Amino acid sequence: MLDSNSIRPAPAASIEGLPLKRATSPEWATIATKELDTLLIDHAWCEYKAASAGLGLIGRYPEHPQLVRPMLALVQEEMLHFRQCVDRIEKRGGRLGAIPSDRYVKALRGRFVGEGRGLGSLGDMLMINAFVEARSCERFRMLASALEGVDGPDGELGVFYARLAEAEARHWETFRELAIEALGDAPRVHARIEEVAGMEAEIIAELPLGPRMH
Ligand SMILES: [Fe+2]
Ligand SMILES: [Fe+2]
Repeated sequence: MLDSNSIRPAPAASIEGLPLKRATSPEWATIATKELDTLLIDHAWCEYKAASAGLGLIGRYPEHPQLVRPMLALVQEEMLHFRQCVDRIEKRGGRLGAIPSDRYVKALRGRFVGEGRGLGSLGDMLMINAFVEARSCERFRMLASALEGVDGPDGELGVFYARLAEAEARHWETFRELAIEALGDAPRVHARIEEVAGMEAEIIAELPLGPRMH
């Protein structure tokens, strides 16, 4: 169990290179690292949902065969992350339990539907996934930083999160590139990323902080 003195504040650079407009409050890392077992279960389900979203894109848009290979690679990587989370949950004496509802993704989807000036069905799906990956990347960076230098299984989790942060940074770019390819209009995609970043920042500001990934 960690004491609060071992928690480092997240660096201001947590959103560097990401399309995010608002950094997560450093308080989140303090809350999350106090309840790592709960966080890890929520995180495991995020990996499951990421894999499932990738599979969903392959099945839903057969007219876009360019999705197949990048999504296959993504699904395999997310499934590996899911298994790695389950390994750690079991090692720490926990169990996966039931799938939690995802208020962040629901809020993001709600805003997309409500505002109705998106990139179309596929473009919007790719944008939502891009932002989920980007926000996950930021949170993994924060956890890696907070757990740096900590001994034992909690410290090992910090190393795990540093590795996953790199994967999520790649994944957000994959979704952005796929959106550009699908629409054939890079300026439009970049403009939409700017807009969505504003919406996402508002959602992040509204959601209460807790031991969950989003
Ligand atoms: Fe992942
Ligand atoms: Fe990912």
